[in-house]
Amino acid sequence: MTLLESIYCRRSIRKFKSDSLSPEELSQIESYAKKIPPFLGDIQTDLYITKTSAEGDSIKGLYKINAPHYIIMYSEKNSFSNLNVGFILEQLSLYLTSIGIGSCYLGVAKPQKQLLKKDTLEFNIILAIGYPDEPLTRAIEHFKRKNITEIANNASSISGVVRLAPSGMNLQPWYIYKKPETVKDTGETYHIYCVNRRLFSHMHMTDMGIAISHIYVYALANNLDINFTNMKHPNISGRKYIISANIQKNEK
Ligand SMILES: Cc1cc2nc3c(=O)[nH]c(=O)nc-3n(C[C@H](O)[C@H](O)[C@H](O)COP(=O)(O)O)c2cc1C
Repeated sequence: MTLLESIYCRRSIRKFKSDSLSPEELSQIESYAKKIPPFLGDIQTDLYITKTSAEGDSIKGLYKINAPHYIIMYSEKNSFSNLNVGFILEQLSLYLTSIGIGSCYLGVAKPQKQLLKKDTLEFNIILAIGYPDEPLTRAIEHFKRKNITEIANNASSISGVVRLAPSGMNLQPWYIYKKPETVKDTGETYHIYCVNRRLFSHMHMTDMGIAISHIYVYALANNLDINFTNMKHPNISGRKYIISANIQKNEK
């Protein structure tokens, strides 16, 4: 299964087999993770995968799920760190689906003190992982998501992959505005917005990174060039402008 195929069938896994992943599998996951392109290369990130059940037990918090391993993500602190971590971690989660491993984001759980920092980087979010003890995938019609008209001004493959993205409490904070094409345009431009909700603003930035990674995976799989630019658009009716994605045919 490719990462793009994972987008169309993935689901959060909340029941895991108790078996641990082998040391080879854990190091394969770690080396894949280290090669994932970040959204912003100048924000340093790192990860740690728990190996023992004692390490796993030390992770506590609301809505925690029992899993044989947890990927703990760390990042430099910055207003874009959550978006960047969401962008990286979703690519890892899609990869895990593609190799038969289940995962679920834990947005509220936290590790104990000694795992709260990694060198100079701070704890960001956890992904529970392991062999699934429930179906790993589902048919597209079983995704519980908003209608496309609620999240985009235009139905397209791009808004389609954003629509399927996972989000904290399934709040789906995104809106995709496709700029009408003009004769002068090169490629297609999508302006990406997020609901302006203060209460969940940190979690929503992670959600936005996840959604943007779906656009990125779609573009790569279709051999399209993609560029993200801050076009400094104004916020619109309760929605905060995040970034614009320009997508063009790769002429090479
Ligand atoms: C940032 C973030 C935090 C999440 N936190 C939790 C959590 O703490 N516990 C949980 O069971 N699921 C959590 N989820 C999973 C969402 O509830 C789930 O993605 C959403 O309901 C959509 O379902 P699906 O992933 O099966 O498509 C989180 C998802 C995201 C993206």
